Amino acid sequence: MAERTPLLAANWKMNKTIEETERFLAVFLPRVADAEVEVVVCPPYPSLKAAVEHCAQSRVKVAAQNMHEADSGAFTGEVSAPMLLELGVDGVILGHSERRQHFGETDEALARKLPAALAAGLEPILCVGEREEQRDAGETDEVLRRQIEADLAEVDDERLGDVVIAYEPIWAIGTGRTATPQQAQEAIELIRERVGTRSVEAAAHVRILYGGSVNPDNAAELLAQPDIDGALVGGASLDPGDFAAIVAAAS
Ligand code: PGA
Repeated sequence: MAERTPLLAANWKMNKTIEETERFLAVFLPRVADAEVEVVVCPPYPSLKAAVEHCAQSRVKVAAQNMHEADSGAFTGEVSAPMLLELGVDGVILGHSERRQHFGETDEALARKLPAALAAGLEPILCVGEREEQRDAGETDEVLRRQIEADLAEVDDERLGDVVIAYEPIWAIGTGRTATPQQAQEAIELIRERVGTRSVEAAAHVRILYGGSVNPDNAAELLAQPDIDGALVGGASLDPGDFAAIVAAAS
């Protein structure tokens, strides 16, 4: 079986100024210094540089929360992969449901963003997940299948294993309603199977995270599932003690 290093990512969304980022890291970095898992913090754009500087002497990585697929151009308000690389950023979240819901992120755009991130040397974290009414209607598998197929369409088979995928059921995000470990395992197993239809090797290597109301109390049980390789954490990642406890649960 392939060795997959667990990955714990903190999605801060539109939270934490530069000063708050520095304060968080001053407490958090010493607590995870011995962690044998991969840890990534994803601050808003203005705090990225401070995060990169503070994490430089640690193994904690820094990722952005979105990017545009072009290197430069007339795209007001957007940020490109080379701009993130220049800051020393390691990765980027793509296709978070809040971007899909509130900012019109499409599968077509994601199909362009994913190869652009990989070509630039950024580790993408692709988010997929169903809405509550889709789960209730028994459409979860179909939604996930469609998103995986469309979003990864332009990624070469050899690079598929370099994408991190986060399964984030929309009804579990910020609601306190976590998917059960069985629900999360089933969905993530399906996602791995879909990757496997393109490359068996990539399916063995691709890391698939669970996201949606992960906290220090439920993390261990979720992370113990065979196909769950880590977590993308929102609310509970804003507190350095809570996020360090989630990292410890994965170690
Ligand atoms: P949550 O957010 O942990 O607050 O549910 C997860 C996410 O949106 O990535």
